[in-house]
Amino acid sequence: MSKTFDLILKGGTCATPAGLIETDVAVKKGRISALGDLRTATAPDIVDAAGLHVLPGVIDSQVHFREPGLEHKEDLGTGTAGAVMGGVTAVFDMPNTNPSTTTAQSLAAKCRAAKNRAWCDIAFYVGAADENIEDLPHLESLPGTAGVKIFMGSSTGSLLVEDDATLAQVLASGRRRCAVHCEDEPRLRERRALVEGGAPVSAHAEWRDTETAVRATRRLLELARGVRRRVHVLHVTTAEEMALLPDYKDIATVEVTPQHLTLAAPDAYERLGSRAQMNPPIRNEHHRDALWRAIEQGGVDCIGSDHAPHTLDEKARPYPDSPSGMPGVQTLVPILLTHVAQGRLSLHRFVDLTSAGPARIFGIAGKGRIALGFDADFTVVDLKAERTITDRWIVSRCGWTPFDGFQATGWPVSTIIGGRMVMTDGELIGEPQGKAVRFWESL
Ligand code: DOR
Repeated sequence: MSKTFDLILKGGTCATPAGLIETDVAVKKGRISALGDLRTATAPDIVDAAGLHVLPGVIDSQVHFREPGLEHKEDLGTGTAGAVMGGVTAVFDMPNTNPSTTTAQSLAAKCRAAKNRAWCDIAFYVGAADENIEDLPHLESLPGTAGVKIFMGSSTGSLLVEDDATLAQVLASGRRRCAVHCEDEPRLRERRALVEGGAPVSAHAEWRDTETAVRATRRLLELARGVRRRVHVLHVTTAEEMALLPDYKDIATVEVTPQHLTLAAPDAYERLGSRAQMNPPIRNEHHRDALWRAIEQGGVDCIGSDHAPHTLDEKARPYPDSPSGMPGVQTLVPILLTHVAQGRLSLHRFVDLTSAGPARIFGIAGKGRIALGFDADFTVVDLKAERTITDRWIVSRCGWTPFDGFQATGWPVSTIIGGRMVMTDGELIGEPQGKAVRFWESL
């Protein structure tokens, strides 16, 4: 008798833990249920994946979806729609909303708001603040959270942990890996005069210079080692930090963004103006090359988009009043696949950085590989497809991308989450039914 499944992906090249294998994959009850030659098996949904690559669902560990409070830029519906349009199956949303996510109530409100509105699976970071230090162990244990996020330098919103004493207290309060934005606030304040009163946007990388990033990262790593806390250094941008981080591999994991790997000063500021403005800044080729070297040498653990939408009206304010951040969740996959096509990144490393990596770092339960029993999350891609990224394609409420006009080679064809096809050929399918990402430490 032939076996029956809910969905079969036929004939794709699958990125499995054993390597790239041309094989069928079957799904039952949202999980991967069989791998191999399934010619005689049946299912109500059979997807022909011949000529395509079936990758583990891409997890974007850093997005700002702006809800509640800043829905004119983005909300959980538009942000997650952009995610699945771009082949992303799960996201971790940042706490710098209004109000900030610093309490059990605000976390629960986000989880409720995501129900039947999120197109992909989702978890929320809790922000560390002076008022919630003692609550952090409880907050990080709640279902629906990816853990604690610390801003060491001010960025969008009011979350900030500025001095060493407070930072040490935060790090000592809790045990899950804690994600950190490393820019040194005292130095940012000292140097703010550099950009006051009509500086060009290219001065952003001067104001928030290399030393601003390195100083914060060094402080974090020392304190984290002192209190034996695992940390995750978000959007690393400098050669100096990449030189420092291998000495802390016992406690620190490293994230970079597609935009820091792809854009560089001065060209990005000349072409894009304040659309290239983000924190930490886009830097020059010397630093960009160091990020690539760190990718090649294994120093980078995952890639997150730092999707941080602002409206074009807001971006049009004269620098430095223009807000920092750029959208990226929808463009992460095609940008990185283009680096694969150009030989800068292997497909194996792409998978490591976008699914296996985040799963390992954050202890995600049941995601990150194509293996029996894992969630049936797939990013199905055409490595040969040549397409142009345009503002028109972007479904984020902000309606633009710094990669407008980018010629991509490699494109997400379908997004499958928990065995449900939610995007194919650029169309959303069905209803938003994203679930909370589950973690080993809060099951
Ligand atoms: O450029 C940035 N924008 N960096 C951040 O850390 C925050 C983000 C935002 O929320 O706009």
